[in-house]
Amino acid sequence: MLREELPKIITDKVPGPKAAEILKRRDAAVPKALCGTTYPVVIERGSGAVLEDADGNHFLDFIGGVGVLNIGYSNEEVIEAVKAQSEKYFHTIFNIVTHPGYVELAEKLNRLMPVRGAHPKTYFANSGAECDENAIKVARAFTKRPNIICFSGAFHGRTSLTMALTAKKSYSRGMGPFPAGIYRAEYPNLYRAPKGYSEEEAIAYYIDAFKNILIEATPVSDVAAVLMEPIEGEGGFVPAPIGYVKEIRKICDENGILLIADEVQCGNCRTGRFYASEYWKDAGCAPDIITTAKSLGAGLPISAITADEKIMDAVTPGTVGGTFCGNPLSCAAACKTLEIYERDDYAGKAALIGKKIMQFYKELLATYDVVGDVRGLGAMAGIEFVKDRRTKEPYPEFVRSMIAKAVQKGLLIENAGTYDNVIRFLAPLCITDNQLKAGFGIFEDCIRETLKELR
Ligand SMILES: Cc1ncc(COP(=O)(O)O)c(C=O)c1O
Repeated sequence: MLREELPKIITDKVPGPKAAEILKRRDAAVPKALCGTTYPVVIERGSGAVLEDADGNHFLDFIGGVGVLNIGYSNEEVIEAVKAQSEKYFHTIFNIVTHPGYVELAEKLNRLMPVRGAHPKTYFANSGAECDENAIKVARAFTKRPNIICFSGAFHGRTSLTMALTAKKSYSRGMGPFPAGIYRAEYPNLYRAPKGYSEEEAIAYYIDAFKNILIEATPVSDVAAVLMEPIEGEGGFVPAPIGYVKEIRKICDENGILLIADEVQCGNCRTGRFYASEYWKDAGCAPDIITTAKSLGAGLPISAITADEKIMDAVTPGTVGGTFCGNPLSCAAACKTLEIYERDDYAGKAALIGKKIMQFYKELLATYDVVGDVRGLGAMAGIEFVKDRRTKEPYPEFVRSMIAKAVQKGLLIENAGTYDNVIRFLAPLCITDNQLKAGFGIFEDCIRETLKELR
């Protein structure tokens, strides 16, 4: 069964001849901006954490569609749910014809999302960028204020507004002008805090920096919301310390500002809780609005925005929604996916996998001085590579070389981080122990070979 398979490359190199032929057609038919050269991989079928390519090679996937495949490729129950829905109807536009799947999914998320308030409400969009844009619309409608504070290292998407919110400028080069009213605070990155600072000192430093934004960049009375990832994804898998979030929550409460948690990448059981904001809620700093997407629909496009009715019902009719938002096939997939996450305790699986990966990463940290830091939350784990542990100079060439080597050995890994020097772990949570071990073996081989090559 493909789902149990270990990585296996049967062609002389990747891509094999069939994949190479499709990649050639891709390069002729698709804009260059979407045709990287890092992953010469063409899928034939996928199951669990494994995909088979056009030439019969088996790849173990530690990327999982960048956090979309927490449930794995081709979950049979999700396939059946989508099939059953497809035989009834594909589409209704929700503001004209209500479909029960939309209502059922909203009810489920209202129960699961750890937002503040007694009566949460949810509506849907199609992508991560769209749900983040919508959260901002909701915050502006409720507070009647224009400005948003986001963070260094943040990624929120590629629409005009979300490019403005996204920190790294390689995602928005040449695409301006961008919407106004966006201000950026420093994300509380403990590894890259000023030298010698303890966690407590670093948090105090980052809070001071945040308060300065309210003095020097925007009047506090103009701020509608603070938008934050509980653990930054593209920014390098950096968890926000709870002590920092508590202080931000306090500042928000004192000033009538909403706190939005972007759980597009970290939501849906990845961090060892159903939503990472549960950690915030436990500490008394639950967000007002949560957005999620990616692994919500097991690969079908759907995203969600959840907030208490007091906030949600401030939105003027006509200003939110869209033709495909809350599509019946996506809702059917998401309802079944959430049911499986709960029934089979995917959050528990993530916590367990997280322990194993962190133990492995810590061994790497103890063995190889190119490893600067290891960190994460549950099964959302990152390992940061540096040229020098003292200066912490990023080592993106090392990561690039590892990724290329891993593909040739049948393991898919991806970079992250402002400096492209972090490798992220987002494998499907149904990965088997044997697969995890095999992946770790390849990962370490790639470190050893890259050390020989670059040092
Ligand atoms: C935290 C976060 N927010 C928003 C987005 C944008 O999602 P999408 O690519 O579906 O628009 C991403 C995508 O990686 C993300 O990681």
